[in-house]
Amino acid sequence: MLRTRFTEEFGIEHPIVQGGMMWVGRAELVAAVANAGGLGFITALTQPTPDELRKEIERTRELTDKPFGVNVTILPSINPPPYAEYVQAIIESGIKIVETAGSNPEPFLPYYKEAGVKVLHKCTSVRHALKAQKIGVDGVSIDGFECAGHPGEDDIPGLILIPAAARALDIPIIASGGIADARGLVAALALGADGVNMGTRFLCTQESGIAHKVKEQIVANSELDTQLIFRTMRNTARVADNEVSRKVVEIEKAGGKFEDVRELVAGARGRRVFEEGDLDAGIWSAGLAQGLIHDIPTCAELISRMVGEAEEIIQQRLAEFVVA
Ligand SMILES: Cc1cc2nc3c(=O)[nH]c(=O)nc-3n(C[C@H](O)[C@H](O)[C@H](O)COP(=O)(O)O)c2cc1C
Repeated sequence: MLRTRFTEEFGIEHPIVQGGMMWVGRAELVAAVANAGGLGFITALTQPTPDELRKEIERTRELTDKPFGVNVTILPSINPPPYAEYVQAIIESGIKIVETAGSNPEPFLPYYKEAGVKVLHKCTSVRHALKAQKIGVDGVSIDGFECAGHPGEDDIPGLILIPAAARALDIPIIASGGIADARGLVAALALGADGVNMGTRFLCTQESGIAHKVKEQIVANSELDTQLIFRTMRNTARVADNEVSRKVVEIEKAGGKFEDVRELVAGARGRRVFEEGDLDAGIWSAGLAQGLIHDIPTCAELISRMVGEAEEIIQQRLAEFVVA
């Protein structure tokens, strides 16, 4: 067993988190992570309405009696979803852990606090983590430049970001981005984190409900197989390398604006990749961790393997370096 401030304060068996993933963070995956002793997050906005989210929470409860949470990602949008109603659904469903991401969680924090909900805020810089600590979140997940999805614009990898955050913060820190195995877990703990968050690794498990072809592609891919899109718009996203992501980068390099790529990056097209296994249907998030993923395990196999090997690395490999 690995015990950290995070496992103690959040009441989770292992210091391993499955972060919110659009179109992927559903009941089966979240419950599998929970049953394996990790902390899984349902992705609120994958559900089309707050009522559907209530049902997904219920469905998850039917599959596990262990703790799990809900991710609420608030990104700038022309037609924003009814965030307040999603938050209300989460609180009324009795969820006790929320992962916030995309923007400052302050507006909803009083509601979470009043309901006794612990908030793990995901961010990409020490300054945002400090701000989150100041407004009263219970922990931060910090995404390094390696991560799938939005790494921010500072381009700081975990090797620097995590120890810098550990030095600056008092609340528990979850290291995120580029972690897929026991080595990453031990490294994150050594850098000062209290646990790890993984996206790409959990995307490629038996219980993640995406097309098998996508999982096989992740196994086949290396750490070189990602693209950074939306760089020119200062809204960078790391996605899998494919025809569409290469095209988006090309258009941006030629001076194209969002209007010129809007159709290529449509959420509905990305969803088709996951649902139909058509790998070039649209863009899909995946991180550098692809280079560390060589199989498609169950969540239970993955988590017990990571914890077991981490214990071995700490007790044997690392301990042997210390001489009198
Ligand atoms: C397919 C996919 C979808 C994601 N969607 C979201 C999301 O909706 N909200 C969010 O906060 N993070 C999202 N993420 C980011 C993950 O929660 C996590 O922070 C990231 O994947 C960590 O980096 P890693 O992939 O290297 O483990 C997504 C990641 C993936 C792979």
